[in-house]
Amino acid sequence: MSRQFGISTTAIHGIPHRRADWTPVAPAVQQSSTFTNPVGKDDEILYSRYGNNPNQLALAAKYALLEGAEDAIFVASGMGATALAHLAVLRPGDHLIASSWIYGGTQYLFDQELARFGIEVTYVSPDHPWQWRKAVRKSTRAIFVETPTNPVMRIIDLSPIAYVAEEEGLALLVDATFASPVNFRPLEYGADVVITSATKYLNGHSDVIAGAVAGSTSFVEEVNRLMRLWGQALDPHAAWLIDRGMRTLALRMERHNQNGLAVAQWAERQSGVAKVHYPGLPSHPDHARAKKVLNGFGGMVGLELKGGAKAAEQFLNRLKLVTHAPSLAGVESLISEPRLTSHKSISPEARAKIGIPDGFLRLSCGIEDAEDIIGDLEQALK
Ligand SMILES: Cc1ncc(COP(=O)(O)O)c(C=O)c1O
Repeated sequence: MSRQFGISTTAIHGIPHRRADWTPVAPAVQQSSTFTNPVGKDDEILYSRYGNNPNQLALAAKYALLEGAEDAIFVASGMGATALAHLAVLRPGDHLIASSWIYGGTQYLFDQELARFGIEVTYVSPDHPWQWRKAVRKSTRAIFVETPTNPVMRIIDLSPIAYVAEEEGLALLVDATFASPVNFRPLEYGADVVITSATKYLNGHSDVIAGAVAGSTSFVEEVNRLMRLWGQALDPHAAWLIDRGMRTLALRMERHNQNGLAVAQWAERQSGVAKVHYPGLPSHPDHARAKKVLNGFGGMVGLELKGGAKAAEQFLNRLKLVTHAPSLAGVESLISEPRLTSHKSISPEARAKIGIPDGFLRLSCGIEDAEDIIGDLEQALK
């Protein structure tokens, strides 16, 4: 089968098979909480909270193929995926090392919730890679990294981290939501577990909340056990919608990559723009690494306007095509201010330290015509 972006046709469309006459081309949604049970048998019970509804299972198998994983599982949100993946590897008294460049919600989960289980977290700046090993304690069980990072689009070199993880017997968990498996597959770079908010590129249509994790069969089994007990299963209809979205994932990513690059290159030429954060630009600190490890630079662009927060608000008020809304990675262009959305839970000082000053704008380029997106940004900038 031919491969595009290193992804086989089978991963997107399933294993080719001749269909019988008069069968539906689109898969059916099995919108049922429960299924009939053979009398007197103790076979596995089919119950949608157990994640074994046919739509849930088909979707997970497809995603595992995309990530190159043994197995995968979908849950009710990206946060649910992050929480369950960590609960699967950490026990009370354990220690986690996390990158300091992570989604604000994830940091809040680590600081507020993992602490309640007696799990300590040490943050390491990926700018100082020697600190990964320095942070390891006897009680360390795992390392968590997000790449590309939200919202400054830093691309983290996983190899030194994977090396430390392997030597010390730690699990390496990577949230690669901003790339999608089309642009970057962490398991190919030494990660043990990949976490994604399926709300974003996987589904791609801004109409579903979901998350997924992929890794070894034994790891996914443990996440599955926790998902059942903590009530995190994905609704079958949401699974069906994501499955539909995933059929155009590679195509959408191709356009997101083109639009992201066109918008970033345009923005860098504008006198009203102080800084553009996009790994496809030679000015980005990780451009060389991005060219090596990413199949595409993605649709996410960070913009700092001259004039700070006030200029950003004026700009947002003038936009027409680009919609002011949190979230990202849908077919339509969205823009938000991380200080009021994804990084709201972090203090202004801590935000500035990780490169997100007030007035920072996070633009998610959709799949519209690049000229139309740029035209809207241009009129708002004037
Ligand atoms: C990088 C990253 N991971 C995880 C999440 C959480 O995903 P969800 O909103 O689906 O729970 C987000 C949400 O924006 C995110 O940006």
